[in-house]
Amino acid sequence: MTEQTSLAHNLAVGFAQTPKTLSSKYFYDAEGSRLFQQIMALPEYYPTRTELSIFQTQGAAIVQALRAGTMASQPLAVVELGAGDGLKTKILLRELVAQPAASFTYVPVDISPTALDELVASLRQELPALPTEPLAAEYTAALTTLAQRPEAKAVLFLGSNIGNFPPAEQAAFLQALAAPLTPADRLLVGFDLRKDPRRIRAAYDDAQGVTAEFNLNLLRRFNAELGADFQLEHWQHYPDYDPSTGAMRSWLVSRRAQTVRVGALGGQAFEFAAWEAIHTENSFKFTLLQIEQLAQAAGLRVVEVFQDPAQDFADVVLAVA
Ligand code: AVJ
Repeated sequence: MTEQTSLAHNLAVGFAQTPKTLSSKYFYDAEGSRLFQQIMALPEYYPTRTELSIFQTQGAAIVQALRAGTMASQPLAVVELGAGDGLKTKILLRELVAQPAASFTYVPVDISPTALDELVASLRQELPALPTEPLAAEYTAALTTLAQRPEAKAVLFLGSNIGNFPPAEQAAFLQALAAPLTPADRLLVGFDLRKDPRRIRAAYDDAQGVTAEFNLNLLRRFNAELGADFQLEHWQHYPDYDPSTGAMRSWLVSRRAQTVRVGALGGQAFEFAAWEAIHTENSFKFTLLQIEQLAQAAGLRVVEVFQDPAQDFADVVLAVA
């Protein structure tokens, strides 16, 4: 399938569901990646800077936990799913580079080629000695890489990207990630934790409206790449958080009854009722107990948990059970 066909397919399938749904993986075109960079710097969006602070204060211990199963001389592949700008990962990479005998390769995997190009360019400047093998692809491509590479592995899945999966798929995905690993390999997974629901909601409804732009950009992308005719002024960004389940969800709400046509689907028309909502993203929040249970369901064990003092975020080192 070409990228356009898979985009069109996702729209046709997602709009046949109730509620209508679009996959959040399509947020990250060049403009979406740029907007996400802005989100990460917003005062309300705490996850990135919290995870960064965990790495800044505990990076050496994290790297030690990632290497604990392997001998110092053994080559290591650090495979990162959804690497983005790699800002946080660079802290861990610097720790690894500083270790005497460690030869390792960094394999950043990201759906956004533009984000990946920038990451590779910045690494060439900042860590010129680090062998980097970027992969512009979806997560599934990372699974193939994990199965094929001969080195010991440290798999990074940071930023609470895991929260994009609905709960029923979280364990299955971790299980797929773990399948090609040996007991000596390690996974490092970032989880955004439950906290004051107002803070969580605000992180997805910032005062400057950057998150609204990020969400609406999905429609702009369908217009540009599929010849759809979404009129952005008739759509509204609406995030909601359910503190009983940890479900943080983003919606695009139709401000009026309207019809949208999609050129790439032969001009197919989609009807929206006034105030009908399209589900565009999950960003689930976790408890430490849930993380334990998730690990267990995926055939993994929790090796070590790293947290910030306020316990807003957890970076969890996992190994096959
Ligand atoms: C990159 C998926 C972790 O869900 O918090 C930020 C994306 N969406 N603001 C998240 C996002 C709206 C982010 N992840």
